[in-house]
Amino acid sequence: MIEINDMYKHYYIEEEKVPVLDNINLSIEKGGFYSITGPSGSGKSSLLNIIGCLDRPSEGEISFNTRNITKYTTKELAIIRNKYIGFVFQQFHLLPRISVKKNVELPLIYAGLDRRSRKEKMEEVLEKVGLLDKMNNLPNTLSGGQKQRVAIARALINDPEFLLADEPTGSLDMKTSDSIMRIFLELNKEGTTILMVTHESHIAAFADENIYIYDGRISDRKGKVRDEPY
Ligand SMILES: Nc1ncnc2c1ncn2[C@@H]1O[C@H](COP(=O)(O)OP(=O)(O)OP(=O)(O)O)[C@@H](O)[C@H]1O
Ligand SMILES: [Mg+2]
Repeated sequence: MIEINDMYKHYYIEEEKVPVLDNINLSIEKGGFYSITGPSGSGKSSLLNIIGCLDRPSEGEISFNTRNITKYTTKELAIIRNKYIGFVFQQFHLLPRISVKKNVELPLIYAGLDRRSRKEKMEEVLEKVGLLDKMNNLPNTLSGGQKQRVAIARALINDPEFLLADEPTGSLDMKTSDSIMRIFLELNKEGTTILMVTHESHIAAFADENIYIYDGRISDRKGKVRDEPY
């Protein structure tokens, strides 16, 4: 569970304070599927990055599985991230010169896992996203949807409790987006907590709960939008 209390985020641009998040109070329950929506520039990515331990609040508190991580150093946050969090982005962020299987294995190479365990895990997650047959391909030989599935496999390789996604379907057509959402639903059913930023209402509808951000504030929290997407 992630809990945020009275949280503010601001940046400084040439000594001028730019407020971005304004008094955020939020709890993310284990096993939930959340969408985050709101206009461009409202602070969605900033919030997701703080929840994902990529960034820190300027004021207020954040706790992660009851641990107060507000004052964690960059290094300490990286440990939390590696252990508990998987990230997926709009632009996939795959390394172009190495194969699908190497892209997926990379976090385990950093973690110092032996070759055999890496292979086992890599095959398990690629199978989960239906791409075992593409493991020797280079990323640029894949479609957008396939690239995103590789990125999801990579995000899953450390068995994260939380899967965070920033516009995961932003570069995909509607049908492909749906297939990505099916994977998210399946992962959520297996217990992964999911937080997903999107500006598409039919994508947000896959979540159980929507967090709407306007001008840095949570302005509305709706319950389930629809029982069965589609
Ligand atoms: N590193 C930074 N330095 C200064 N300002 C920033 C920085 N990162 C974000 N901002 C500002 O914070 C505000 C919120 O940005 P954020 O990226 O969180 O918005 P968003 O809701 O994700 O928008 P979009 O839908 O366009 O992705 C914007 O006004 C942006 O310019
Ligand atoms: Mg954004």
